[in-house]
Amino acid sequence: MKTLEKAKKNIEKVGFLNIDTPKIDYVKEINKLKKEKNAIILAHYYQIDGIQEIADFVGDSLALAQRAAKTDADMIVFAGVHFMAETAKILNPTKKVVLPDLKAGCSLADSCPPAEFSAFKKLHPNHVVVTYINCSAEIKALSDYVCTSSNAKKIIDSIPKETPIIFAPDRNLGAWLNNETGREMLLWDGACIVHEAFSIDKLLDLHKEHPNAELIAHPESEAHMLKVAKYIGSTSGLLKHVRESDKKEFIVATEAGILFQMMQENPDKIIIPAPAEEDNTCACSECHFMKMNTMQKLYLSMKYEMPSIEVDSELAKKAILPINRMLELSK
Ligand code: 13P
Ligand code: SF4
Repeated sequence: MKTLEKAKKNIEKVGFLNIDTPKIDYVKEINKLKKEKNAIILAHYYQIDGIQEIADFVGDSLALAQRAAKTDADMIVFAGVHFMAETAKILNPTKKVVLPDLKAGCSLADSCPPAEFSAFKKLHPNHVVVTYINCSAEIKALSDYVCTSSNAKKIIDSIPKETPIIFAPDRNLGAWLNNETGREMLLWDGACIVHEAFSIDKLLDLHKEHPNAELIAHPESEAHMLKVAKYIGSTSGLLKHVRESDKKEFIVATEAGILFQMMQENPDKIIIPAPAEEDNTCACSECHFMKMNTMQKLYLSMKYEMPSIEVDSELAKKAILPINRMLELSK
């Protein structure tokens, strides 16, 4: 008990309950806790396979936000990263929201500090602010619209053509959207380390080995990757594309966690991860933030209902407005 109390005190520093769980059958215990606590596990496609398997719902950022908003479970266990769990709490504030590892952050969200963004916004007072959901609650509170990669184009198109727009925080997604929408949005200079890790040279070599493979990419990838991609879309868009395509072979440029779902859905197709610049262990690109969540941390977060996500109510009141505008436009 002493160890548990110490671990609880250390949770802010360590990010999770750092206690031993010898001989635990995580699958059995997590399923038991789901029932006992009327909990729902929401997981992003980039989570480890075991978490995707045990989750009640696996989705992209938009689907996860929609699901979090409407759930009547007492506890939302968010197997994703901090901004996702924070969005779930803002959307459903009476629910307990837990994140298996509080330190599961996001390089893209971190690339947009609120004080600097606020100063940038003040320099362009006549601009409407559209922000990608991969940002903090503080940035959302400074925004007019939130979007995800599944609905960004639709949301931007809903804003009158003559209205100038600031788009943040992803410069790659923003540049791609400028092309897609024919606008000249002002772009915040942020990026995702995972989607900027792909090597175009290695990719082209790989394509020579697999000339029939179709390259598909997430729009957080850099322009040179998007230029050679035959399909560009969000994680759910990429999954749908592979499911519905007649093609038999794909090279996929996004975080490697998506391959689990893609291979399960398409056992007859060849799915190859796009190669990263560095020689990672997986020879692909993995988000180390997403991979911080483990079965053990998931189990502990459900058992002890911590680390839990709290959002200041005044901040939440401001941040929910652009999120709700997005949800309204995404129906
Ligand atoms: P989507 O799930 O919206 O495709 O976003 C991918 C991502 O990078 C999540 O962090
Ligand atoms: Fe953030 Fe990139 Fe990881 Fe998504 S993949 S959570 S954008 S660092």
